[in-house]
Amino acid sequence: MSTENMHETETHDESRQGEALILDIPMINPVKKLYVESYGCAMNFSDSEVVASIMSKEGYATTRDIEEADVILINTCSIRDNAEQRVRNRLTDFKKKKRENPELVVGILGCMAERLKKNLLEEEKLVDLVAGPDSYRSLPSMIEEVGTGQKAVNVLLSRDETYADISPVRLDKGGVSAFVSITRGCDNMCSFCVVPFTRGRERSRDPQTIVKECQEIFDKGYREVTLLGQNVDSYRWNMSSKGEIKDPSRETMNFAQLMESVAQIDPKLRIRFSTSHPKDMTDEFLEVMAKYDNICKYIHLPVQSGSTSMLEKMNRGYTREWYLERIEAIRNIVKEVSISTDIIAGFCGETEEQHQDTLSLMEAVKYDFAYMYEYSERPKTLAERKYEDDIPKEVKNRRLTEIIDLQREHGLLANQRQIGQVQEILVEGNSKRSDTELAGRNTFNTKVVFPKMPEIKPGDYVMVKIVNCTSATLFGEIVQI
Ligand code: SAH
Ligand code: SF4
Ligand code: F3S
Repeated sequence: MSTENMHETETHDESRQGEALILDIPMINPVKKLYVESYGCAMNFSDSEVVASIMSKEGYATTRDIEEADVILINTCSIRDNAEQRVRNRLTDFKKKKRENPELVVGILGCMAERLKKNLLEEEKLVDLVAGPDSYRSLPSMIEEVGTGQKAVNVLLSRDETYADISPVRLDKGGVSAFVSITRGCDNMCSFCVVPFTRGRERSRDPQTIVKECQEIFDKGYREVTLLGQNVDSYRWNMSSKGEIKDPSRETMNFAQLMESVAQIDPKLRIRFSTSHPKDMTDEFLEVMAKYDNICKYIHLPVQSGSTSMLEKMNRGYTREWYLERIEAIRNIVKEVSISTDIIAGFCGETEEQHQDTLSLMEAVKYDFAYMYEYSERPKTLAERKYEDDIPKEVKNRRLTEIIDLQREHGLLANQRQIGQVQEILVEGNSKRSDTELAGRNTFNTKVVFPKMPEIKPGDYVMVKIVNCTSATLFGEIVQI
């Protein structure tokens, strides 16, 4: 798995929330074969690695060849209607396989499983198993239950499950970059968002297990970790609750302190994180970011809208002014840093003027990158219960196009500004375009492509001079290995 799905080109569709990942873990004398496909955010991809780990202990080896699978698991996303539609289309492909092989077990995991619960068994007749995000430890027994001819459903959400003790099976073939979950769930209740319903209450993971996992990843040769949470800034661990308190002045560990511990593992381990929340991002954290060269100078800070009244309706917990002040703080404290965002076009009741506020905020910030979406009403959310999804499809679409066009200009400007700079690039592998080029990322998370040299391999750091760009990619020449 690459971090590609975290940093796609601008898009209308689900390319970030819907990249499929096919797991492939070799095993000696495997008993049974498991095929897993993942959709959605990085959290889901990371969960699939936990699932692979749980299943490998039961003797399951993963396969890329669906034809030889004994068990098919599909890890799903509910964030927008089209994310669910993609999964439904994929399920109809599996129907054929099930007809050919009635022994085959088909299971749905993740957010759609949690949202639709046992209804999925009725809606999608072929499904044998429905497992929500906090139930993966019970997958082996659920599969056993299916073996006795029953359907298995576990959609219990937990207040404390973090899978902290499970060492995920790394599925990234490149072996350079890995995801590490630090929190699960979300307590924010943004009115448009289904995540609090599919992922449950927010909980933080024991920092010792996080640091240990990052150290192990580094020891295995990885050179980048991305710490994951729906709102990483609200990470908080009570040190005294487990008798772990070493420094009496430090009763709790917050995100800034956690970042510092991870950054100290090794200067050659790059640290990324996603997602930051404008209402919770502190100066203390920004100071830690500025202090450590190996904390990448890239912040994803979703704004959703540039209008204070819309933000209030979205229940985001900040105003336009607050957001702009946070941007100023980032640029004052961290200085050279790239910033990306998420924007929703056409939320309930959005006026033309409020849409213009979003465009003017974009002008004020000049994002390096953005993920941009049309509002999609989600069942059970506050917005669905309280507000009418009243912006016509064509208007949503036109507003989104205006947002995307403006972002394209800003993205190009951001890349052009880097021409002439000499940057440290972490090499990820061959460039997709050609066999004679390598690709990696700079600290700002921009993809950089440069000519191959035989002595350079994935995981190496090289100094590259940027000579050219498009709105999505920088092109350079190696100046020093
Ligand atoms: N926890 C992250 C975002 C998780 S979802 C945060 O708070 O920023 C990723 C993005 O999907 C959101 O930032 C939002 O822009 C978008 N999104 C969420 N619900 C949506 C909906 N109902 N319609 C359209 N876009 C949505
Ligand atoms: Fe959804 Fe808001 Fe939580 Fe992000 S912070 S996951 S948008 S509820
Ligand atoms: Fe989708 Fe669930 Fe992630 S809804 S975006 S897979 S938390």
